[in-house]
Amino acid sequence: MDNLTPARVVSELDKYIISQSAAKRAVAIALRNRWRRMQVEGDLRQEIIPNNIIMIGPTGVGKTEIARRIARLIDAPFVKVEASKFTEVGYVGRDVEAMVRELMGYAVNQARARLVEEHQEAARKVAIEKVLDYLLPFKKTAEEPSEEDQERMKRSRDKMRKMVLSGFMDDKEIEFEQGESESMPFEILPGMSMEILDINISEMLSSILPSKPGKRQKSTVANALKVITEREVNRLVTREKVAEVAKKAVEENGIIFIDEMDKIANAEKHAGIDVSRSGVQRDLLPIVEGSNVPTKYGIIDTSHILFISAGAFSMAKPSDLIPELQGRFPIRVELNSLTEEDFVRILSEPENALTKQYTELFKSENVALTFTKGAIAEIARFAALANEKMEDIGARRLHTIMNTLLEDYLFDMPDPKLKKVRVCKRFVTEKLNRVIKSEDLSRFIL
Ligand SMILES: Nc1ncnc2c1ncn2[C@@H]1O[C@H](COP(=O)(O)OP(=O)(O)OP(=O)(O)O)[C@@H](O)[C@H]1O
Ligand SMILES: [Mg+2]
Repeated sequence: MDNLTPARVVSELDKYIISQSAAKRAVAIALRNRWRRMQVEGDLRQEIIPNNIIMIGPTGVGKTEIARRIARLIDAPFVKVEASKFTEVGYVGRDVEAMVRELMGYAVNQARARLVEEHQEAARKVAIEKVLDYLLPFKKTAEEPSEEDQERMKRSRDKMRKMVLSGFMDDKEIEFEQGESESMPFEILPGMSMEILDINISEMLSSILPSKPGKRQKSTVANALKVITEREVNRLVTREKVAEVAKKAVEENGIIFIDEMDKIANAEKHAGIDVSRSGVQRDLLPIVEGSNVPTKYGIIDTSHILFISAGAFSMAKPSDLIPELQGRFPIRVELNSLTEEDFVRILSEPENALTKQYTELFKSENVALTFTKGAIAEIARFAALANEKMEDIGARRLHTIMNTLLEDYLFDMPDPKLKKVRVCKRFVTEKLNRVIKSEDLSRFIL
């Protein structure tokens, strides 16, 4: 996080998302401000509230994509929820607080993975010493071993340690004691939906199939090292420790992305029909304003969680949200609808550009796929045209167009006679003209 300056965040986002610089900047600043807050000393730190953001823009222009990339970029707990989910009638169990529990669940897994890695080496050291105890059992004698004996034992232990470390002893069979397994690492509380439980399968298995304490198991040294290391890691990385680290990560760095925020705003203020929408807003308010949410890992204070919301806001406007909620989302950024020039860049520049994706897919069938510049310009032209003639679905249009364009190949491959496909302008024009000419056809295909 230290080196994630706003400029760095924007340049990372630039690798995947074309245009939309206002949104990228806003997100980058909000992220950095949280880091800045942590550098503030004293009481003021508590006072600094997050720069919650509303991203406003038509469909398919990169709102969700920005959030998704941010999530990968920063090492912070992140969840994406759909605001409209909370309004669905009869949707049981999905209360608004679930998003915080989900975030905590994510953070717990993240923290556990990190702690396990951190303790791996120490645990392995312990495991090696334990294995040495089994390889060179200490013979009990009536009297204290002489200094000379002790010295000799230490020497042979050092020698043996070298052999174990080098892997020389890996296949040797030993009999070692299985430890006591930990208590059940998770419990299912009534009323919790499965999605908010983070179940770690290996943890589950190890607790369901406990080895009786004191029971001896025959295995190779390599396996014993593995088993004992794992056991030591589990001893070092306790549930409490994991919860503590996760709680801090959520409270200081957590991000909740609320998609389809416009769906809970009331365009017209008539009573009745939209009760559930303002209801959701009212439910949301305390979480966004900062409140304590109980989770199975402890109470989470949501005051400094960053909320990024997004929506088309074509019918309802951000000003249709209840005032208290508006106030908690001070940053508004608009994303532009995408132009033909944007499409040219989106098709070729991002690291995950569609042309690159299809090239790799073709490669798996031993076909070299290339696109000429003219072809890309033509695809972009058709995408813009289709968005204009029908509905503007933004960059999503490129997916349908590319698929229409390449469908025959995608069906015919593998074909031993086919080694190369060069998509040129004429190919695109011929293929797509037919479709776009007929409104009916294009409605179905593009
Ligand atoms: N500016 C952009 N640059 C590159 N790719 C983009 C851009 N905008 C959208 N895309 C691509 O288009 C697809 C849809 O974008 P995204 O999911 O971000 O839409 P959205 O703005 O969240 O729309 P909606 O309002 O429908 O949720 C994604 O696959 C994304 O990669
Ligand atoms: Mg979206």
